Amino acid sequence: MSVTKEFIYGLPKAELHLHLEGSLEPELKLRLAQKNKVDIGQSTIEEVKASYQFTDLTSFLKVYYPAMNVLQDEDDFCALAVDYFEKAKKHNVKHCELFFDPQAHTSRGVPFETVINGYYKGIEKGREMGIDAHLIMCFLRDMTADSAMETYKAALPFRDKILGIGLDSDERDNPPLKFAEVFDRAKREGFHVTMHCDIDQKNSIGHIYDVLHKIGVERIDHGTNIVEDPALVDYVLAHRIGFTCCPVSNSFVTEDMKGREMKYLLQRGALITVNSDDPAYFQSYISDDYHALASKYELSREDVIQIAKNSFLASWISDEAKRNYIRMIDEYAAKAV
Ligand code: ADE
Ligand code: ZN
Repeated sequence: MSVTKEFIYGLPKAELHLHLEGSLEPELKLRLAQKNKVDIGQSTIEEVKASYQFTDLTSFLKVYYPAMNVLQDEDDFCALAVDYFEKAKKHNVKHCELFFDPQAHTSRGVPFETVINGYYKGIEKGREMGIDAHLIMCFLRDMTADSAMETYKAALPFRDKILGIGLDSDERDNPPLKFAEVFDRAKREGFHVTMHCDIDQKNSIGHIYDVLHKIGVERIDHGTNIVEDPALVDYVLAHRIGFTCCPVSNSFVTEDMKGREMKYLLQRGALITVNSDDPAYFQSYISDDYHALASKYELSREDVIQIAKNSFLASWISDEAKRNYIRMIDEYAAKAV
């Protein structure tokens, strides 16, 4: 049976790979630009959308970072998070673990506490809206390891507001081991850890080996190049490592969604999840990603249900909470047409 959009929208799901800064929609961007008197070079939604010209990760990041100048005070960060929760509700997202990039803000003079307190106010509003939301603090891998460590130390007074630590931005010449020391410390001090291994990077497979065997991540963000190494696939199956895949994002920064790889890994029993990455830029929220993947790669209803279950299984919640969400999915699937 083919899987309808309606079924996918209603399916209870967790989102594990969403950059809050990547959920900055043109409408909010323009509103904040006006409020904060920031010239972003565009003044209409059409002009903002026309500026979204990217063919790879580097060209995407060149459009992505300058737009963040519109985020100035706590209310702005809070508004951005709430804007996402309003969307997430429509996609029946029950739980989310959201990336944010403090260095993209502190490097332009916004204090760390403004960023974290603003986002956390949004997180609390999200919880009032019925979404169990959490934050993952990412380091920008094209900045120095010292800067990552400084950011880590700045975050410690706010550690009850941060569930995990991640690594994003431009992977070219910025391998995971550059950040071994800060990730080692974060793990020892009780944070969950994940890292981006973006698609088709120079030495992707070496980076995936290192995040698994040397850093010891619990999840990999993207990471589908792993199919090139059967021993690494066996390793992730044995250790139940989650993959936070983003098919529509992949189709913007590479030549395809990498759906064949996702389907292969899913059928091997890997914890493949589907997520939206930077939905405002790729104009695709989580259910749209599920639907794009399912329709292009002919996923069965059971495959789609398994992906939703995986989203909770790969999340950082208790085993009891995982069981409850899986029961919720089974109940939904039994009733839905
Ligand atoms: N920052 C936002 N989206 C990203 C991605 N897909 N890869 C790396 N860094 C990012
Ligand atoms: Zn990402």
